[in-house]
Amino acid sequence: MSKIVVNGGKPLSGVVKIHGAKNAVLPILAATVMTGGVHTIQNCPALSDVSTTVEILQELGARVEREGDTLIVDTGGEMQSFIPERLMRKLRSSIIFMGAILARKKEAKISAPGGCELGPRPIDLHIKALRELGAQIEEEHGYLICRAQNLKGTDIHLDIPSVGATENIMLAACAAKGTTVISNAAREPEIEDLANYLNSMGARISGAGTSTIVIEGGSPLSAAEYRVMPDRIVAATYLCAAAATGGSITVTDVCTEHLSAVLAVLSDCGCKIKKEKNKVSLVAPQIIKSPGSIKTMPYPGFPTDAQSLFLAMLAKSDGTTLITETIFESRFKAAGELLRMGAKISVDSRVAVVKGSKKLSGACVTAQDLRGGAALVVAALAAEGRTEINSPEFIYRGYEKLEENLKTLGADIAYEG
Ligand code: EPZ
Repeated sequence: MSKIVVNGGKPLSGVVKIHGAKNAVLPILAATVMTGGVHTIQNCPALSDVSTTVEILQELGARVEREGDTLIVDTGGEMQSFIPERLMRKLRSSIIFMGAILARKKEAKISAPGGCELGPRPIDLHIKALRELGAQIEEEHGYLICRAQNLKGTDIHLDIPSVGATENIMLAACAAKGTTVISNAAREPEIEDLANYLNSMGARISGAGTSTIVIEGGSPLSAAEYRVMPDRIVAATYLCAAAATGGSITVTDVCTEHLSAVLAVLSDCGCKIKKEKNKVSLVAPQIIKSPGSIKTMPYPGFPTDAQSLFLAMLAKSDGTTLITETIFESRFKAAGELLRMGAKISVDSRVAVVKGSKKLSGACVTAQDLRGGAALVVAALAAEGRTEINSPEFIYRGYEKLEENLKTLGADIAYEG
């Protein structure tokens, strides 16, 4: 059984370059389906979720080649409109292909998506919004049969500022006649990145990054070249690892404004933060202190994807922290594994109380989702002794060269197949 083995207790130090953002590149790759031509997507990380998305593109009829960190995606041939369930189930963002395929083919047959088990992950907002744009969507034998001969722009209000639903609406609305206005849209930077890519293809989208996004549909689209934004959660992961080990690191190729909420809490924990143009340096105290409380919120609030990382980091801290998860129903799975390492965490539904310990000890643990798995790496680096992390495939969904980068920072870590 493959695992990651860590001998912890060493402060991290050095510089690490942050790769392109998983949650930006996945919808951008889906959007290449919307028009024929050769798309060049730069800063594309080698992640298993990206490989799965490439498999879906190839299943639909695209030709994809990788040249270093660039993907060349040729969608000029005859494209299909069906994605088999075995591929849909592999990741959450497969649902974004619905809007992209409808824009190109005016029909789509897909199943419900997969993704990390964070509680129920419905797609009702996606379906409701696409129906408001004029799509006919029938649910048959676990598949969504979609037809959209005449998509028409309209005003759409999202009950929840859903990232995926906002992305799906943007894609479909590009092919709709007239104007679509999304209110209560998600404001995550990845939405802006997708809008920038679509606009580089010839779309007319304004307001991305705010709660109100306007899409002027119907403009002709053509293949484009685009560089994906840096991954803010991967950056947060390395910063948490440095904070947990009393280290001192610099993360480069980042967008510092995307990290504001995370850096504010790290500073409250006693870390010295220095922000420069595209890099952030952090010097941690011997042991971090509790920030008091953390509450996950839609962007620009504290990101839910960083919650598990801070749960692990604060397991070794001076003080008690209250962490409230407002986005997902069940996103404290890592707590059960952290208890094996001596963490003192009690969880009640969407609230976790972390009583900081002076030390953690290595143990045998298992990753159960992407960020929960990364959290176990953070704890293992801070713990004394050896930790084995099973099911590392969850972690490789969103982290490229994790062991290599951590070794550069002085960690004793290795993958064992
Ligand atoms: C995206 O997931 C990200 N994934 C997630 O990152 C991230 O945690 C999440 O946004 C929130 O920021 C990708 O971009 C691939 P949502 P998404 O729709 O789009 C509810 C990671 O670790 N909801 O914003 O699925 C939903 O249940 C992953 O990189 C509905 O009720 O998130 C959740 O409670 C994990 N109905 C809330 O909205 C819907 O139709 C936010 O979900 C859609 C969502």
